[in-house]
Amino acid sequence: MNKKVLISGGTGYIGSHISLQLYKLGFDVHIVDSFVNSPGKNLENLKNFSNKDKNFKNRIFINEGDIRDRKFLDELFLDISKRKEMFLAVIHLAGLKSVPESISDPLRYWDVNVNGTINLLNVMKKYNCKSIIFSSSATVYGNVKETFLREDLPCNPCNPYGETKVVIEKILSNIFTSDPDNWRICNLRYFNPVGADPSGLFGEKFSYNPSNLFPYLNLVAGGKKKYLRVFGKDWPTKDGTAIRDYIHVCDLSYGHILAMNYLLFKKSQILNLNLGTGKGTTVLELIKTFERVNNCTIKYEFEDRRPGDVSSLIADNNLSKKIFKWYPQKSIEEMCKDSWNCFIKNKYAI
Ligand SMILES: NC(=O)c1ccc[n+]([C@@H]2O[C@H](COP(=O)([O-])OP(=O)(O)OC[C@H]3O[C@@H](n4cnc5c(N)ncnc54)[C@H](O)[C@@H]3O)[C@@H](O)[C@H]2O)c1
Repeated sequence: MNKKVLISGGTGYIGSHISLQLYKLGFDVHIVDSFVNSPGKNLENLKNFSNKDKNFKNRIFINEGDIRDRKFLDELFLDISKRKEMFLAVIHLAGLKSVPESISDPLRYWDVNVNGTINLLNVMKKYNCKSIIFSSSATVYGNVKETFLREDLPCNPCNPYGETKVVIEKILSNIFTSDPDNWRICNLRYFNPVGADPSGLFGEKFSYNPSNLFPYLNLVAGGKKKYLRVFGKDWPTKDGTAIRDYIHVCDLSYGHILAMNYLLFKKSQILNLNLGTGKGTTVLELIKTFERVNNCTIKYEFEDRRPGDVSSLIADNNLSKKIFKWYPQKSIEEMCKDSWNCFIKNKYAI
């Protein structure tokens, strides 16, 4: 049976975890990645994994290229179709993801995220591959008053990164309308993916000035940063610090497998679904948990609230639970433990 799946951005943080899970389930994993933001270790370890396992030898195929390069994508799809095969689905993660960078260099973000996706969709359409799972984000909601975010809330992103995600969701909605009997589309809106595979083999590339909390925690714990900046201590929460919904990357990845299975075996449709735990953690709770499970100290200092920040953002994940039967398993303790384990094993930022 044809079990080929194409993963754009498959050597990145989330993509490498999805690739690993698909591979372990016996799929042929075809990765497209320009390596613009993938840690070298991810690539190396994916290759090693594939080569070491005699039964599954060469089940991971890595193609270096840019999704904006139509010729490159066309040749890849042509090559598969010449063998009278086709990708069952595309899991589309390739893109740029830094909110501050998207504000300072919006054209690059529109070009990579939106033009890259249009290119990919054109080639998929040409080769009649019409099932896609897209990495969207909770940033599409913007700053909302609701604590639990449901998929039917209006999308009001407040930065170019979030705007590119909303536009891609709109493009996907348009192509579904153009051919509703054939397209199968799922936009997965991630909350805050953190942690790593317990092996520590796959991780996230980050700089010395990351804008996300977990990379910062690791840098402080590893002595690379003096202290963690905590923005706001007067939010209306139990300890005054902001609440977010953190989701372990392995649970998140499994959500993609379930989404793909669902799409392939049900009628053609388009879905928007949140992937989050539905549980909130304050910054101080996170710091305490990280210290406890990793036996380390995290120094922190309070700073003013940042403009545009909100007190609490938690996923309403009832739809994903109902539709896919997706139940995230991993605790905040495991997220902290696996994240630190991966950091000390690989030191991606160093
Ligand atoms: N990590 C998060 O917090 C988060 C949250 C919500 C949504 N997302 C989305 O999930 C997706 C994956 O995120 P991630 O954290 O794994 O990011 P990542 O940067 O680790 O992975 C993205 C991968 O895409 C590749 N890539 C970038 N531009 C490309 C291009 N033009 N052509 C081919 N490959 C290209 C990079 O080299 C990288 O390997 C992104 O689309 C991101 O916007 C991430």
